[in-house]
Order: sequence, then C-alpha cells, then structure tokens
Amino acid sequence: MNKPDLNIAKNREEVKINYGNLDLDIKPVFKGKKYFLRTYGCQMNVHDSEEIKYYLEQLGFKYCDKLEDADIVVLNTCAIRENAKDKVFGYLGRCKHLKKAKKDLIICLCGCLMQQPSEIEEIAKNHKYVDIVVGTHNLRELPELITKCLGQQEIEVYSNSDQVWENVKYSRDSKISAWINIQLGCDKFCTYCIVPYTRGRERSRHIEEILKEVQELKKQGYMEITLLGQNVNAYGKDLNLGYDFATLLEETAKIGIPRVRFVTSHPWNFTDKMIDVIAKYPNIMPYVHLPIQSGSDVILKKMNRRYTVEEYKKLFDTIKEKVQNVSITTDIIVGFPNETEEDFQKTLDIVNYCKFDGAFTFIFSPRVGTAAALMEDKTSLEEKEERLQKLNKLVNEYSLESNKKYVDKVVKVLVTGSSDKGIDKVCGYTETMKLVNIIGSHDLIGKIVDVKITEAKSFSLDGEVVK
Ligand code: SAH
Ligand code: SF4
Ligand code: F3S
Repeated sequence: MNKPDLNIAKNREEVKINYGNLDLDIKPVFKGKKYFLRTYGCQMNVHDSEEIKYYLEQLGFKYCDKLEDADIVVLNTCAIRENAKDKVFGYLGRCKHLKKAKKDLIICLCGCLMQQPSEIEEIAKNHKYVDIVVGTHNLRELPELITKCLGQQEIEVYSNSDQVWENVKYSRDSKISAWINIQLGCDKFCTYCIVPYTRGRERSRHIEEILKEVQELKKQGYMEITLLGQNVNAYGKDLNLGYDFATLLEETAKIGIPRVRFVTSHPWNFTDKMIDVIAKYPNIMPYVHLPIQSGSDVILKKMNRRYTVEEYKKLFDTIKEKVQNVSITTDIIVGFPNETEEDFQKTLDIVNYCKFDGAFTFIFSPRVGTAAALMEDKTSLEEKEERLQKLNKLVNEYSLESNKKYVDKVVKVLVTGSSDKGIDKVCGYTETMKLVNIIGSHDLIGKIVDVKITEAKSFSLDGEVVK
C-alpha cells in the first residue's frame, strides 16, 4: 500500500509532468453481472464516475439502479466536508449488510476520501469487507484491480501524481451535455480546503488534446460542453506554452458547439482578456460561478484566497458591465475559525452588494491535514448555524429577486431531460443557468427552444414553449 503524503505541498515545484496516451486492454470477463455506482462530490467526481462507468461496462457489467441487484458496488467518495464523509460511511453500512447475504459482492471505494491516510487506515482496520480501494490518481488501475479481485482487500492509492493521461474513455451520462477536464488538481491551497491534497498538483492538458475532444463531441451531436477545472482561469500557467484560459475558451467557442460553459472560476487571476472572450462569443454562456467565500478581508487572508473584497467587487462589476445579461453565482463559507459577528456582517454586506443569482453556502468543516483545521476556533456551532440560516434567508431572497426578472420574458432553454415536476413536463437550462420546468413533450429533449417564463421560484422557473 502506498501511503498518501500530506506534505506534498513542499515538493510540487520539483515534479515534472508526464503526458501519456492511455491504452487499456479490458476483457469483458463479468458478462451478465450488474454494477451499482454512487457518486458524492463535485462535477469532477461526476466526470470521474463517467470514466468508472466506462471501465465497468467494458468489463461486461450492466448498470442497475438498485443496490440489492448489484454484483459490484462502487462508491465514488468526496472529502470536502464532514457530511460528505458521513454519507459514504452511512451507505457503506448498507453495503456491508448486503454482503452478508451475497458473499460474492465486490465492494469498491474510490474518489477523494480515499486520498486521506486516516480514512485508508480506518477502511483497512474496521471495514475489511471492502474489497478494493483506489485513489484519484490511479483510477485507470480499477479494471485490473476488479479483474484480479480475490476477496482480499486491495488498497492502491498514490499520494500525488505527475501524470496526465490522454485518450481517457468515458461512458457519458448525457448525450446532450458533456464535461471536459481541462485541468487536474489544484495549487491554490486555500487553508480550509482538502482538494489540493486529494487531487494533487495543478496540471493542464495540452490545448490540442482538449480541442480534439471538443471536435469529437461536436461530431457526436453534443449541444453543450463544460470545461472543468478547480480554477479554470489558471489553465495553461503550468505549461508555459504561450496560451491561457482565454485562448482555450476562444478556440473552443470557434468550434461551434451551441453552448460552451466553464467551471470553476477563482476570482484571483480572472483577466480582462477572459471577460472579453466571454462577451464576444454568443455560444459562450453568460454565466460565471465566482466563489467569494467570505466578505471579510481578515477572513479572506486567513483563508489564503489571494484577493480582497474590493478586488472581488471590481471584478464582479467588470463582468456585469461587459457581459450582457450575465448571471453570477457564488460559494460562501460561514464560521471559518474565529469568524466574528463583524466578519459575518461583512459577508451579508457583500451579498447585499452583489445580489447573487444563487449561492452555495456551507458551515466551515475542519479537514484533517489542512492549515485551517489547526486554527483556534472559539465560535460555537450554534452561532455558526444561526449565521448560516441568516445567510441562506438573504441569498434565497436575492435568487428569487433575480428569477422574478425573467417572468413574461422569452428565453432560450436547452431541454436536457424529463422534469420531476410532472409527467407532462420537461426541464432544461437558460443560457444563464437557470433551471426551467416546461410543459411539453419528450420530443423537446436535446433541443434549444424559446420559452416564455410564467412563474419564478427561488430555485427554478416555470415556462411554456413559444410556438
Ligand atoms: N475549486 C473551487 C471549489 C471547490 S470546493 C473554488 O475554489 O471555487 C467547493 C466549495 O466547497 C468551495 O468553494 C467552498 O465554499 C466549499 N468548501 C471547501 N472546503 C470546505 C470546508 N473545509 N468547509 C466548508 N466548506 C468548504
Ligand atoms: Fe480548494 Fe481553493 Fe483549490 Fe478551490 S481553489 S479547490 S477552494 S484550494
Ligand atoms: Fe470534488 Fe469532493 Fe474531491 S468536492 S475534488 S469530490 S473532495
């Protein structure tokens, strides 16, 4: 077993990145068997699950949606907050129970939680019924580990990676909208965040390879692609080949897929050139997810976010001014160690200033191995919960307010699937990433249609197709 080394921050600069073409020979030795897959975490994990699905299907497994029917269970875990971890261990309890009745069941854990030494130790000691543990850096070993699974626990995890694989295959969830990794890992080391430890150093894919993938997706008829990275605006910096995220975005837009998106943008290093490209191309969607995290400069500094509230506001205003009808969403953490009532008030102030289209809000969750987990924290959990409630009330008011502006307007919606609001309904997204439930038939799925908005709610819109 290779133990992850939580001191990876020190030796990042010295590692030279290797680029290689993946060429796996996977035999369908599990024909007739079924797999069950659960994904926790962010879009990156969702996209990794599409890679996992490809491997399982190549091995001969067919998808099933009930845990009880499965011959193999894969849990793709997340480590971002304690509740993500609790969910995984909760579900693992069900898997353990099932394995008592079904001795041949293969249980496999992968994803970010498996990059944490304490969790691996816990699995090795107290969860012996887990068959396979594989880390984020060596997901490609999964087919081999499954093929060779003999009922003993196999743990294969690497602490870091100097590798970027091309020619990775995916079994994508959607035929309409696709994820594309443009950058792996993260070098920002925000003091609260586990991602740099679980995903390794920041490494960009070469632009030609990304554009080749975009071309291929266009050929397959995809209507939308989302360029994925933990901070996409740092794209290319590690390569030093004379191109950056603005170049990539522009070249991607030129290929002509109807909708191009990107996530996540770090406010640090978001250049004017990037904003100009977003504004220039109608197929680059006017939507930016721009996490602020806190409205207090003291806390932002302690978080190592590399910008001040003033700088954020300036960037926010420039994006709003240059990109027509843009919508901007954010992430906010409350209860960072020793956050005072005054600091929190400043977070409310920035929300009042920006009036975000939406915000994901979290209570700070200490992660083992991060700097913030060691910081003194006198604020009680009750106080933090109260702050979260106050904040949620405010952000919901603003998202409702921004949604109300759509009522009676006609907007373009890419219909992505059936709606859970009724069998006579489908759903999709506006260019600005607002979810719309529409009365209409399934024939609309995969099309961009003009929709008149009839009602606004905090988290979605209702509408009808304009004939
Ligand atoms: N790379 C992205 C975000 C990745 S994690 C970025 O920098 O914007 C998604 C969100 O989870 C973060 O923006 C942050 O708000 C939240 N988060 C990360 N670590 C956290 C922690 N330890 N406790 C609470 N929230 C956290
Ligand atoms: Fe985490 Fe910060 Fe990197 Fe985002 S930029 S993944 S919050 S360390
Ligand atoms: Fe994503 Fe969770 Fe890992 S948010 S990068 S899956 S820790």
